[in-house]
Amino acid sequence: MVAGSADSAAGPGPVVGVLGGGQLARMLCEAASPMGVRLRVLAAPGDEGAAEVAPELVVGDPTDAAAIRSFSAGVDVLTIDHENVDHSVLAALEADGVAVRPGVRTLGFSDKAHQRRAFTQAGIPVPRFAVVDPGANASRAVADAARFTESVHGGVVAKASRGGYDGRAVWMLAPEEVVPFVARYSGAPLVLEERVELDCELAVLVARNLEWRGPDVARGRDGAGRRHVRRGGVSRAGDRDHGEACA
Ligand SMILES: Nc1ncnc2c1ncn2[C@@H]1O[C@H](COP(=O)(O)OP(=O)(O)OP(=O)(O)O)[C@@H](O)[C@H]1O
Ligand SMILES: [Mg+2]
Repeated sequence: MVAGSADSAAGPGPVVGVLGGGQLARMLCEAASPMGVRLRVLAAPGDEGAAEVAPELVVGDPTDAAAIRSFSAGVDVLTIDHENVDHSVLAALEADGVAVRPGVRTLGFSDKAHQRRAFTQAGIPVPRFAVVDPGANASRAVADAARFTESVHGGVVAKASRGGYDGRAVWMLAPEEVVPFVARYSGAPLVLEERVELDCELAVLVARNLEWRGPDVARGRDGAGRRHVRRGGVSRAGDRDHGEACA
């Protein structure tokens, strides 16, 4: 069932289909509207995030493979409300030629174990880590966790490799807590990381089109030689609250 304004369905732009009707889909709808981008959202009944603002709403189960496949048939580009969707369903659609954005290879980086391994392979520094999988082999996971804990100084951060977000499924553990935690844990494989001291945390949002061109950004260097990149406006050194990236 497609509900919503007939006007948007008659519009000229490509249709972007969104799997899931949560808060992020809602924000996407609000941002897309002034840009003339047509959104169609597949949302579960009672999903309150995007349902009120989506120009086109398809009521169905955004986790169901058949519902996703039928929804994707009517859209030009398929995207997601959040990354905790079945990637194998999206991979099958991608293989059939559906434009899935972000692509399934990129989405794979939402798995923290894959992310840590891929970054290490690419020479990108990450905290020391170990991946343990109590679900596959409990005694081996406990032994590996004990060995890792001995190899790092101080506490350990345990993270579910999949399914967490915004600090959920992240546990700060004292050394003596690690083994009991791993012994009773069940779920996706765990990434164990050494606890590092953080000066600041940066989130970088990168947008590009199919020709790899991004939106206009301001680039510059401050007196200390640090590079600044910022979309629009002028960045100031040390101004961490305003979406600035410095290096
Ligand atoms: N190795 C670490 N040492 C110290 N603090 C950490 C470490 N890893 C994570 N943290 C703290 O825990 C918070 C949550 O961890 P993380 O960012 O990995 O999880 P997330 O926000 O759920 O996932 P993601 O950022 O991938 O969406 C971080 O913002 C940071 O403050
Ligand atoms: Mg985070």
